[in-house]
Amino acid sequence: MSTSSKAIVRIQNVYKFFGTLKALDNVSLDIYDGEKVVIIGPSGSGKSTLLRSINRLEKIDAGQIIVDGYSVHDEKTDINKVREEVGMVFQSFNVFPHKTVFDNLNLAQTVVRKRSKGDATKISMELLKKVGITDKVDQYPGKLSGGQQQRVAIARALAMKPKSCCSTSPHRRLIPK
Ligand SMILES: Nc1ncnc2c1ncn2[C@@H]1O[C@H](COP(=O)(O)OP(=O)(O)OP(=O)(O)O)[C@@H](O)[C@H]1O
Ligand SMILES: [Mg+2]
Repeated sequence: MSTSSKAIVRIQNVYKFFGTLKALDNVSLDIYDGEKVVIIGPSGSGKSTLLRSINRLEKIDAGQIIVDGYSVHDEKTDINKVREEVGMVFQSFNVFPHKTVFDNLNLAQTVVRKRSKGDATKISMELLKKVGITDKVDQYPGKLSGGQQQRVAIARALAMKPKSCCSTSPHRRLIPK
């Protein structure tokens, strides 16, 4: 790999809280000009928050981030200048942003599948448990991580019990019992 010695992105002791949730916990990282870096971690561990902080799409609570010499979170920095040089592909899913996770799952079940609210809720809660986000049931998608939103979208799709998703034939079964 051909890299020069200049750190193009410097992330120093960065903390970020969403209320009481600590999304970034003393993160430090130098990325050098020409280097390719992959950030890997469990869903909800703060990967997108860190990336969004690099061009101040998220404010940080402590620490600093320097991109090509600009201190990104310094109020005096012209952030548009930084953003001109920082490319970003967003992680997004077509969940309804104005509806809670619960409503995202229940809506089409009651309107399209004509299930009772009780039946729909039971299915929604089972699926949210399967995808591991029951604690987010009353949240709006904007407050979820990308992977969590992705799982809402998956659970919502499965809640409709589309053809072939739930057949008893083992090789077609997508929801293991
Ligand atoms: N705007 C927000 N308000 C409240 N909590 C948030 C907000 N954005 C993210 N979070 C929470 O912060 C944590 C980190 O989220 P982040 O999006 O950085 O995760 P991630 O590592 O990118 O996850 P994934 O792999 O699922 O995309 C998660 O627990 C998430 O629920
Ligand atoms: Mg993410």
